Amino acid sequence: MSAFVASPEPFKAPIGTRDILPPESERWTRLVAEFARIMGLAGYGFIQNPMFEDIGVFRPVGEGTDVVSKEMYDFFDKGDRHLALRPEGTASVVRAFNQHHPLVPWKVWYVAPNFRYEKPQAGRFRQHHQLGAECVGVVDPDVDVELMVLLWDFFCTIGLRELRLLINSIGDLETRHGYYEHLRAYLDVRRDSLDPEDRRKIDQHPMRVLDSKRPETQDAIADAPTLLDVMSGVSRAHFERVRAGLDAARIPFEIEPRLVRGLDYYTHTVFEIQSPALDSAQSAIGGGGRYDGLAEALGGKATPGTGFAAGIERILLACDAEGIFAEQGARLDAFVVDLGDGSTARDVSTALRRGGLSVDRAFDGRSPKAQMKAANRSGARFAVIIGEDELAAGTVTLKDLRSDKQQEMVSRENLADELRKRLS
Ligand code: HAM
Repeated sequence: MSAFVASPEPFKAPIGTRDILPPESERWTRLVAEFARIMGLAGYGFIQNPMFEDIGVFRPVGEGTDVVSKEMYDFFDKGDRHLALRPEGTASVVRAFNQHHPLVPWKVWYVAPNFRYEKPQAGRFRQHHQLGAECVGVVDPDVDVELMVLLWDFFCTIGLRELRLLINSIGDLETRHGYYEHLRAYLDVRRDSLDPEDRRKIDQHPMRVLDSKRPETQDAIADAPTLLDVMSGVSRAHFERVRAGLDAARIPFEIEPRLVRGLDYYTHTVFEIQSPALDSAQSAIGGGGRYDGLAEALGGKATPGTGFAAGIERILLACDAEGIFAEQGARLDAFVVDLGDGSTARDVSTALRRGGLSVDRAFDGRSPKAQMKAANRSGARFAVIIGEDELAAGTVTLKDLRSDKQQEMVSRENLADELRKRLS
């Protein structure tokens, strides 16, 4: 039997995914271009990883986390390899680092789709897109600061004003294991007042209970011990340097001892940037932290790393909530209106585009009226009108579509220069 079933209705994109169409897509390309510019200024190069990996690559992201244990899209390919669609980007970047042995510090940025089988809602998709950056091979806390400053400045450059930066340190592994004992003892006494889902986390990952948004749990953990109280000297010094760096960059931040993040590979610094303009369930527009054990967990040499990622869909929702970063209409320089059989429109558009101008035209032998309507709708600055008279005289009629100015005749030979003169 064929695997393809005819649909009685036109197909739609799968639940939790979206088509990003023009004109909205114009904001995406502008956002990515701005991110690329900012990361380029700090020496980060573009990286593109595969969209799927051996499923083992994502094990260190967290077997006990929702992202890996419940939401991952995994499958066996025709060669019986167990693969997974990437739920996040950091593990792939570090897998590539282990594979290619680049010089350190290795600074890379990416824009990539990620896949998580979540319950779709506003700002939460099954395919979402992240802008991210990673710096592998540096222990210096100044890199944590560099990344936070870059993300913060990126958000400010696109015009976001309502931002909260939350930071925390979850220490090194040794500190954390000591802390787990404390925390487990505290949570055990309150076991009965916790939400059942959170109760299950006490043994496996007690810190994740602190991150719970469930009201019963929130009340029970109000005065839980924090890791900041028991942190080792190295972790403390690291965190102090991070705070000093943010102060020096004049970036306001809040220390949030409950911030543990939903992925397992973090050590020392973790952070999140929230947009208070969004609902709290989707207010994290970016987040990241240090992952000093990840390269080793993926079979490479012990190598520190740190980075962040920010969701494009959420950033744009925050922009909408603040009324900024609006779509810019099409910015065509000219629209060619051909009163003949279309050959002149074809040739003039090609010549003008080769001259670096943005130009469009109508097809399918539309009437002059329909072509003028299309020219007006296109957002072009000028209509370039060519009828029999113009053709015979080697001229074109230029009509400024944004003003009531008279039309003027210009020579077809100098058309690109004449347009440029008027556009500048
Ligand atoms: P994450 O916090 O899981 O971190 O995701 C980063 C950002 O992606 C979130 O802050 C949010 O803006 C967006 N995001 C996540 N899930 C969804 C979703 N289902 N729908 C829409 N947007 C979403 C990471 O992925 C880490 N790899 C970040 C990192 C890089 N840490 C170190 N380096």
